[in-house]
Amino acid sequence: MATNRTFTMIKPDAVEKNYIGGILDKINAAGFRIVAMKYTKLSKVEAGAFYEVHSERPFYRELVDYMSNGPIVAAILEKENAVEDFRTLIGATNPAEAAEGTIRKLYAESISANAVHGSDSDDNAAIEGNFFFSSLERF
Ligand code: CMP
Repeated sequence: MATNRTFTMIKPDAVEKNYIGGILDKINAAGFRIVAMKYTKLSKVEAGAFYEVHSERPFYRELVDYMSNGPIVAAILEKENAVEDFRTLIGATNPAEAAEGTIRKLYAESISANAVHGSDSDDNAAIEGNFFFSSLERF
């Protein structure tokens, strides 16, 4: 059963360019409620653990280096059909293929520096949200 929650990160490239406000605006306008949020920075070990599922992929090292390179915003978002609707809102992983009006089309620069992360399933949304937030940090 769908949980209606997803997990997102605003990645270091978008934070660096002062896109946090613009991205949160799009998220709110699309009807997502913020359940939890923090501004933080991942160590290499933490970024490696978060993206462990990609550890055999050729881009893993680049991804871990990049994601531990600067601060990020992590958040749990709530809405009906949250996982799928959020992936529609952010657009394709590669911004060159992202639809007009999507967050990645507007704010991403490349496939590795692609502005935002969005969970790909309800199970991963729960795992990823638990990676960053305790039960005391969700409202
Ligand atoms: P994200 O949604 O955070 O999930 C995994 C990330 O791996 C993805 O966004 C991209 O930033 C990154 N990624 C996926 N494919 C590639 C690739 N071919 N080269 C570099 N990074 C990639």
